[in-house]
Amino acid sequence: MKYPIPPGVFDIIPHNERENWKSSYLWNFVERVIRQTATDFCYQEIRTPVFERTELFQRSVGDTSDIVSKEMYTFQDKGGRSLSLRPEGTAPVLRAYIEHQLHQAPCQKFFYIAPMFRYERAQAGRYRQHHQFGVEVFGNDSAEQDVEIIDFLCTLYRRLGLKNLGLHINSIGDAFCRDRFRSALKDYLQPYIAQLSPDSQTRLDKNPLRILDSKDPKDREIVSSAPSILDFLSDEDKKHFDRVQELLHQLGISYQVNRFLVRGLDYYNKTVFEIVAGELGAQNSIGGGGRYDGLLASLGGPNLPSIGFGTGMERILQTMIQQKVSLPESNSPFLFLIALGEKAQMACFALLHSLRDNGISSQMDFSARKVGKLMQLADELHAHYVAVIGEEELLSQEIEIKEMKTGNKLKVSYSSLLKVMKEMKKTISIQNDTI
Ligand code: HAM
Repeated sequence: MKYPIPPGVFDIIPHNERENWKSSYLWNFVERVIRQTATDFCYQEIRTPVFERTELFQRSVGDTSDIVSKEMYTFQDKGGRSLSLRPEGTAPVLRAYIEHQLHQAPCQKFFYIAPMFRYERAQAGRYRQHHQFGVEVFGNDSAEQDVEIIDFLCTLYRRLGLKNLGLHINSIGDAFCRDRFRSALKDYLQPYIAQLSPDSQTRLDKNPLRILDSKDPKDREIVSSAPSILDFLSDEDKKHFDRVQELLHQLGISYQVNRFLVRGLDYYNKTVFEIVAGELGAQNSIGGGGRYDGLLASLGGPNLPSIGFGTGMERILQTMIQQKVSLPESNSPFLFLIALGEKAQMACFALLHSLRDNGISSQMDFSARKVGKLMQLADELHAHYVAVIGEEELLSQEIEIKEMKTGNKLKVSYSSLLKVMKEMKKTISIQNDTI
């Protein structure tokens, strides 16, 4: 291969036989379910550019986070500005929210499906370009709002057929609580410094909370007896977290409180959560999010509480495949036309136009291949029906339609073909709806 694809990225092609999760018909399906669920929950779409000013991420995600300190694709444009490819979706949405004064908009609930870029060590489940479906909600600090977005995410996973996912929740309180906890945690960890992993040793000064969710076995053993952030929460935050649990219980959403969950981005406060899938191995977080109440104001916007989540499209699709959920059929032509001879080719070409114009997905081959080859192609494309049209059919004005699955044949007049196809399509969609 002269110009191979760079490491850590991948193509999404119509059908990837070896790695089905990289097939576009499956991405289309997941995106359709996301959009339907967003409509049901009354969230509206927001789209922002792929790059932003670098400072936006430094100020929001945080200078000490891995994402900003090690993983951003940063470059200087020809005007000398430092720009970065979006490593995550929250900061750009906040920037757009402030820029367009969206606090005045009637709907304060937004969603996006977008590529993100992080220069991470490429491995299974971790990519340098990944895609996230995310939501961000502004102006409400209730526990109901926290649970609404968790319910949204769980509903989506359920609709996609995912099961056995683990919901972990925690509260990391307000800045005051975290300051007190940070120093208690440092005091606890100091005597173990030599035994901590090199990553955790560097984090001890700058971002000790991240040591709590280290994957290193020795780190985990050490932090297992560390103080719990839950003991440092203010009465108000404790009450909020209790109410979150009560509401989750009411909706029948199972969860576990995980006091080690802090998340990798600096902007969170109060409720944080993560959903894990055992099938994903080391990179087992399929989605996560939490509150970030002070962030909007710190970026120059109104002082409004906010909350959101992001879930990786790649990890959703990989889990669906691993769990063998029932997958949709790929987009296939409803009718495949085979023309015999030049005259029929002209007639079929016009017919093709009017079928498509009337919402019947149709296909024909424009090369002069033999009927046998074209039948094989129709079969490979999973066409529902095939019609072979030649001089004879043009003269008799009668066409035979073959149903590919059953081999059943049906004769219809040329002029009624469109009507018949519309009827058949209606019947099939009613059958599919009732399944
Ligand atoms: P995050 O936890 O960094 O959060 O990413 C969200 C999800 O994106 C992860 O749970 C994972 O499924 C997926 N993901 C992240 N990095 C990669 C990668 N390198 N390769 C494949 N998948 C990946 C955020 O980005 C926050 N902005 C979420 C949020 C929104 N919090 C509040 N609002």
